[in-house]
Amino acid sequence: MYNTKSISNSFPTIRVYLYGGQVTSWKNNSGEQQLFLSKKASFKPPKAIRGGIQICFPQLGNHGVLEQHGFARNRLWSVDESPPLPDTTSDCHIDLILKQSEEDMKTWPHSYELRLQVALSPRGDLILTSRIKNKNADGKPFQFTFAYHTYFSVSDISEVRVEGLDTLDYHDNLQSKIRCTEQGDAVVFESEVDRIYLSAPPKIVTIDHEKKRTFVLRKKELPDVVVWNPWDRKAKAMPDFGAEEYKCMLCVGAARIEKPITLRPGEEWQGRQEISPVPSSYSSGL
Ligand code: BG6
Repeated sequence: MYNTKSISNSFPTIRVYLYGGQVTSWKNNSGEQQLFLSKKASFKPPKAIRGGIQICFPQLGNHGVLEQHGFARNRLWSVDESPPLPDTTSDCHIDLILKQSEEDMKTWPHSYELRLQVALSPRGDLILTSRIKNKNADGKPFQFTFAYHTYFSVSDISEVRVEGLDTLDYHDNLQSKIRCTEQGDAVVFESEVDRIYLSAPPKIVTIDHEKKRTFVLRKKELPDVVVWNPWDRKAKAMPDFGAEEYKCMLCVGAARIEKPITLRPGEEWQGRQEISPVPSSYSSGL
């Protein structure tokens, strides 16, 4: 088992693994788990931990030459000893860092720093800020895509709707990534869904009717949104996922994929995802 770090802001608590720099648990004020973590998750290489919030860098999906979703989720991160100041009022945060390894240089020959700050706001919001810096000494720029692959815990996937994605174009990974346009006023789930919504608004709302709770996801510098549920057939095919677990999870995460980021040496990029759990009486206003 790899080292974990926990932080607590009175009641809300977070658990983060150094393996993958991955948040695996986030409990709200009432002690309820907000994130899905598979009972069959593996916590050691070469598999990423199935659940929580995976950091996908420098590649999302198989849109490139690297391993699926990039290598960051399969590496052992370190505690960041010189973290930047949090950009929230919270003094409750964990700071991690990942740098290139000799092994990764063979497939992605770049020197970088990926800093991840995981913070709990005073009212219990979960805020992830990633800062990626090009440290190449040879003057070369690099390009990457990125995502917070976020596994929410839901009570019954057939009762969940995602708002804020209506009329947007998306790449449908189930149909060779063809570009489609969302026709519904919300995304609902009756079968496998594997999409990248493009240029989404900064606020996306996931409503879990049965559990009477809503996740409001806000994002910066991350225009796209991953939406994924494997449904029954794919669930059975995944060794680190329970056959019935697709019913109680949904991935909705902020991403940057259609327009990759290019950084020159010395340049830094920041991407932020903030999730607020709000009571069911909340109106999304979307
Ligand atoms: C999604 C991909 O983002 O992640 C899916 O679009 C993939 O195709 C899913 O199945 C899970 O990926 P992995 O590598 O964690 O099994």
